[in-house]
Amino acid sequence: DHLREDNLSEETKTLISSLPSTKDFLGKLYNYQGCWYYPNTLLGVRNFQKGFKPQETDIVIASFPKSGTTWLKALTVALLERLKNNSSNTNLYLNSSTPDLTKFSSPRLFSTHMPLHTLQVPFKDSPCKIVYVCRDVKDVLVSQWFFRCAYLQKELNKSVLESSFESLCSGVVYFGPFWENVLSYWKGSLEDPEHVLFMRYEEMKSEPAAQVKRLAEFLGCPFTEEEEEGGSVDKILELCSLRSLSSMEINKTGKTSNNVHYSNFFRKGEVGDSKNHLTPEMDNKIDMIVEEKYKGSGLKY
Ligand code: A3P
Repeated sequence: DHLREDNLSEETKTLISSLPSTKDFLGKLYNYQGCWYYPNTLLGVRNFQKGFKPQETDIVIASFPKSGTTWLKALTVALLERLKNNSSNTNLYLNSSTPDLTKFSSPRLFSTHMPLHTLQVPFKDSPCKIVYVCRDVKDVLVSQWFFRCAYLQKELNKSVLESSFESLCSGVVYFGPFWENVLSYWKGSLEDPEHVLFMRYEEMKSEPAAQVKRLAEFLGCPFTEEEEEGGSVDKILELCSLRSLSSMEINKTGKTSNNVHYSNFFRKGEVGDSKNHLTPEMDNKIDMIVEEKYKGSGLKY
């Protein structure tokens, strides 16, 4: 759906004809405010920037695609839901492209892949909370490769990995450049730690309890002593584990509006899987590029 250009308004067509553009193997990409989008995503970004009305309690989960968004979403929902008695109507997915957001109960939870400066157009000066999850770029690449092959309904094929690698390195990649996406949130979290939290997938894997407590504190719903003693942290981690999420009926059988099976959002969930798939040359080239891009930012690679 995000690839279609035929249903764009005249205004958007005029805008996109003035933007730098290129093609990748999925379609045409446009650079808007420093980030690459397919036409329909660009339309969504524009509509959001023009019409979105933030509420003070809004929470935004942000990421570069394949960085652990679904996991972070599940953890956030579980943390918020524990404050309510009724948790039966929670759904991680939304199948309408034009939902009436004013009807959502608060706190409203959104997720996005847009970089922080573009997200802040409507959110500027709003006290809402933004949580970003950052993942090792090489694992993101490999995760994206598996996901793309599934999306394209292709066998796992090295040429898709190679073209994804080239796009990633050139920066011309959906929601990229990768490092611009990450650095926008990294800098935002340093400037405004009360409103922007920077999390790392690898830390969520290596010290899940500490990270989920950090998330709860940031969201203003820390675990009480009684909850901690009652094992609430572990219960939430178990509920949101890859095994538990992937065995939920909706995740086994459901699909997105553009026909991606939810099951594709759950694969291995490991740190370092890229070692099994990237050549040493690919590995070195990515290290060189990203180290250079992160230089001086204080973000450790
Ligand atoms: P892999 O393909 O490396 O397994 P996103 O949600 O941003 O699309 O990211 C998808 C990646 O997160 C996939 O990585 C997926 O397996 C992993 N993932 C999904 N749920 C997870 C969970 N509960 N715990 C850890 N990793 C998870």
